[in-house]
Amino acid sequence: MLDQLHVIEKEATEKIQACQDLKTLNDLRVLYLGKKGPIQEVMKKMKELDKEERAKVGQVSNQVKQEITKLIESKKEVLEQKAIEDQIASETIDISLPAYQLPTGTIHPLSRVIEELEDLFIGMGYDIAEGPEVEEDYYNFELLNVPKGHPARDMQDTFYIDENNLLRSQTSPVQARVMLKAKGEGPIKIICPGKTYRRDDDDATHSHQFMQIEGLVVDRHITMGDLKGTLELFARKMFGQKRQIRFRPSYFPFTEPSVEVDISCHNCDGKGCAMCKHTGWIEALGAGMVNPHVLEMCGFDPQEYQGFAFGIGVERVAMLKYGIDNIRSFYTDDLRFLEQFTRKDDE
Ligand code: PHE
Repeated sequence: MLDQLHVIEKEATEKIQACQDLKTLNDLRVLYLGKKGPIQEVMKKMKELDKEERAKVGQVSNQVKQEITKLIESKKEVLEQKAIEDQIASETIDISLPAYQLPTGTIHPLSRVIEELEDLFIGMGYDIAEGPEVEEDYYNFELLNVPKGHPARDMQDTFYIDENNLLRSQTSPVQARVMLKAKGEGPIKIICPGKTYRRDDDDATHSHQFMQIEGLVVDRHITMGDLKGTLELFARKMFGQKRQIRFRPSYFPFTEPSVEVDISCHNCDGKGCAMCKHTGWIEALGAGMVNPHVLEMCGFDPQEYQGFAFGIGVERVAMLKYGIDNIRSFYTDDLRFLEQFTRKDDE
């Protein structure tokens, strides 16, 4: 019987040592240490032995069991460790693979123009002002010297909510609002970027919704020279240091005198090309000295205060600056268009 036990021990030891996975190991444990295993078989026969032998066989079979238990335990540890290592190995990330390119957005060309201009004007001490897009007729027209029935309303026909409320046709009503708020006390230096609306038929250069940046300065001793110097800085910031500007007489009800501002063509340096229609100059924006009547209606004493105002068309500036020939490109969210304005341009 003792021999039998030793054979079992040898056989178990070999099997345990050869075992490669936890499941087989567990089967071996059940086999050798369970109730129906070969060791139990031997022990069942112990009653046939005499007392002395029985004690001996009992002792040896216990030793064999302990030995097998120990072997299984240490093998288990080894296999568990190996399982962890295998798992780690199978889950390692190969960091040498090139990463997926995640598409990132870029700044919209209109936002870019607005940001650049905000930078310029904030640097000159201007504040950014905002006003409502659904505006009262009173601010959009009346206070700007365009009473009901005035022919200038034709040019700026817009969308009416009701008799007194409309979608603003220009950012100029913000002038009126800011002046009224200042209660006759200067100075005022603001720019107001924002959306504007007109009942224009959409085509390559017109859109029923577009953006303007209004500028307004009201103070004592403000002259047209100040306006010209300011707009010269604007032209150079947007179109290069060599740009010059010129004023042509024009008409806006809320400015007097009013001017149309041309910038020397950045495409041909003023020599004449298709972009400037061979004139060397590009029509860029409207401006003027705030009409004394407007100053008065908005609470300022025109004897004491003067002001200048200008209205920049953001789409127009962006189209000129980036050579875009269709205003609709700004609104159609076509990635092929937008992707051309990468962040690299910001650097
Ligand atoms: N608001 C005018 C327009 O939309 C532009 C402008 C603004 C002209 C300020 C003069 C002064 O046409």
